[in-house]
Amino acid sequence: MSIDPGTMAEMWRLSDKIKNYNEERAGRTGQPLTAFVKTFGCQMNEHDSEKLKGMLARMGYDVVPDYQLSDSALIPDVVVFNTCCVRENAEDKIFGQLGAIKGAKKHKPDMIVIVCGCMTEQEWVVERIKKSYRHVDLVLGTGNTYRLPEYMAKRIFENKRVIGAESEDSVPEGVPMMRDDKFKAYVTVMYGCDNFCSYCIVPYVRGRERSRKADDVIDEVKGLVQSGAKEVMLLGQNVNSYGKGAGGDGTDFAALIRRVACETGIERVRFMTSHPKDLSPELIRAIAEEPAICSQLHLPVQSGSTSELKRMNRKYTREKYLGLVSEVRKLIPDVTLSTDIMIGFPGETEEEFEDTLSLLEEVRFDAAFTFIYSKRQGTPAAMSPDQIPEDVVNERFKRLVDTQNRISREKNEALEGKTLSVLVEGPSRTDPARLTGRTEGNKVVNFDVDAAALGERCLNRPEAGDIVPVKITRAETWSLEGVYCG
Ligand code: 5AD
Ligand code: SF4
Repeated sequence: MSIDPGTMAEMWRLSDKIKNYNEERAGRTGQPLTAFVKTFGCQMNEHDSEKLKGMLARMGYDVVPDYQLSDSALIPDVVVFNTCCVRENAEDKIFGQLGAIKGAKKHKPDMIVIVCGCMTEQEWVVERIKKSYRHVDLVLGTGNTYRLPEYMAKRIFENKRVIGAESEDSVPEGVPMMRDDKFKAYVTVMYGCDNFCSYCIVPYVRGRERSRKADDVIDEVKGLVQSGAKEVMLLGQNVNSYGKGAGGDGTDFAALIRRVACETGIERVRFMTSHPKDLSPELIRAIAEEPAICSQLHLPVQSGSTSELKRMNRKYTREKYLGLVSEVRKLIPDVTLSTDIMIGFPGETEEEFEDTLSLLEEVRFDAAFTFIYSKRQGTPAAMSPDQIPEDVVNERFKRLVDTQNRISREKNEALEGKTLSVLVEGPSRTDPARLTGRTEGNKVVNFDVDAAALGERCLNRPEAGDIVPVKITRAETWSLEGVYCG
């Protein structure tokens, strides 16, 4: 739970000690010490990495955006792997990259290799790292990353290898952060998940649900607004059960998001990820009523079949989900809806799969993140004898993706000719003369700015961080094209 002030003060003390040591070393060699954080997985991990980078910067490291293993002068002094284990292919990739860094350590024996994040909360992973990845120096868990300075101090000053995450269900406050974006920020409001969907490893590696105090969230968002943020995404593994588990202060998620929208001066607020069972009528009303809350909802359905949903332990039926969607659309007609779908869950019949396809047609999501079921050791579904053959899964996956791509494109085409407000992110990656940004529905828009028109109307060219009107001229499957019409 909340970390006592003494523990946090100790982290600051150790950070300063490491910083002094690093400054002295850098003074001797004329080279600043560098650190690189590699992130795998979801937004929660991306945001945890912002905290890891913040802590490393505070310890005097120059945080670099990439690393080079071939040139020993460019090998960082610290490399952190912030890992994900939600699907097996993520884990395989991480072990591959961890193996690849072994050679670099021969060139630079002082390099500190750290593994943290979801993978490290599995015993077999810790054992494998201990035995087969001896170049890894430190392993932290998901709940104790705030202890990075303590682990680093053990490695630097006592030359200790500390492998083995002590699980902690903590709610740390005041951890320094190095945010990737000035205008759009992640804010964690709760940690952990108590849902135990039968395929999912998250409740085992992220611990029990626990919430931050509403005032701490509000203070963080106010601070962000002061430093220029225009949009915040409230994060939690199961964000709309905010306030129900440990911690918190009696505020529920609908009340929290209203406070964020009304008290902080932020222009846009959105959230990830919701569980349909916790989508309250109050939350739907809050989205409908508060102008700062984006008309957008990510509501993972996983399957359109009630029998499959039951085996997944999702605690709602197809009809309940469809009822929620019509409630949402009644109150928020222009809502942008997205979802997560899983294919190939054990025992999935052709009929159940067709129910999922028909749900896609019925709801017409703007976007769906589609996943092939991956067997996760320790979850109930992994024990099922009815694993689906690969060829069947692949064929279903293709039908699913084809269906959703068509719908996504049609939904985007319906926006042609409309003017949407877009938060500008900067020049477009493919054409720097154009700009790119996101709509309230979180859709990417690449758009032109007509220089002549700007001149005629004495307007300034929009810049990153501006929220501007853009007329949609063309739809793609995953993005929109437009023209600035300020
Ligand atoms: N296999 C495949 N996909 C999974 N997800 C969670 N667990 C698994 C698994 N074992 C997907 C779910 C979830 C998303 C974040 O990841 O669809 O909503
Ligand atoms: Fe996993 Fe279900 Fe929790 Fe989402 S709600 S993190 S899918 S257990």
